Amino acid sequence: MRIYKTKDYEAMSRKAASVIAAQVVAKPDCVLGLATGSTPIGAYKKLIEWYEKGDLDFSQVTTVNLDEYKGLPRENDQSYYYFMNENLFNHVNINKERTFLPDGTEADSEKACKAYEEIVRSVGGADLQLLGMGHNGHIGFNEPADYFPKETHCVDLAESTIQANKRFFASEAEVPRQAYTMGIGTIMSAKKILIVISGADKAETVKKAFFGPVTPQVPASILQLHPDVVVVADEAALSRVEL
Ligand code: F6R
Repeated sequence: MRIYKTKDYEAMSRKAASVIAAQVVAKPDCVLGLATGSTPIGAYKKLIEWYEKGDLDFSQVTTVNLDEYKGLPRENDQSYYYFMNENLFNHVNINKERTFLPDGTEADSEKACKAYEEIVRSVGGADLQLLGMGHNGHIGFNEPADYFPKETHCVDLAESTIQANKRFFASEAEVPRQAYTMGIGTIMSAKKILIVISGADKAETVKKAFFGPVTPQVPASILQLHPDVVVVADEAALSRVEL
């Protein structure tokens, strides 16, 4: 595991974007595993900027996103489908037919999850999987649990996640209670993993996840067992650990 400490969110975003850009340059037809949430937005902005300058070409890239709310129509501005179009896909020359997310509109959870696992497998898995981390150590929507879920599955969101995400909805009642997410096994099958973390409010979880025991109670701790992980975090997020 390599840990890059950056001064602030802006520098974290630049560094993360450069890891993603390096992947796209090295393998133009790569598969990028992508994440939503607030943390990667700055990195996506940088990628768009570099694309506009002519330094990046997404025309052959395939993407697989980590997760999607169950039950939100795609046109809902809180769906992850909408988020990805708004924050990245609409602004670069990616072939949208090659951008995949779990189908949140599929009511049959088993069908939706099986189909998505099959999509991830059929594209050969992610060359580079981008992750954020929740305050409770979740990755994707894999919440603290007694075991590490393997494949794409349907989850009931933890109360803390509902609380953290309600800022994006008109009211707490509108936050979906379930989501489809890649499993820990799906995430760990990526060839390389990049996790971005910002802010002092995640410092304690950073310490637990990367310097504590590997436990499903802190899902991100599993990354300690992956052979190629890059952590890009700002000083605030790393303020509880010594490097
Ligand atoms: C997003 C995702 C989540 C977020 C996490 C952190 O696709 O799967 O695990 O990465 O909740 O969210 P932010 O970045 O908003 O703190």
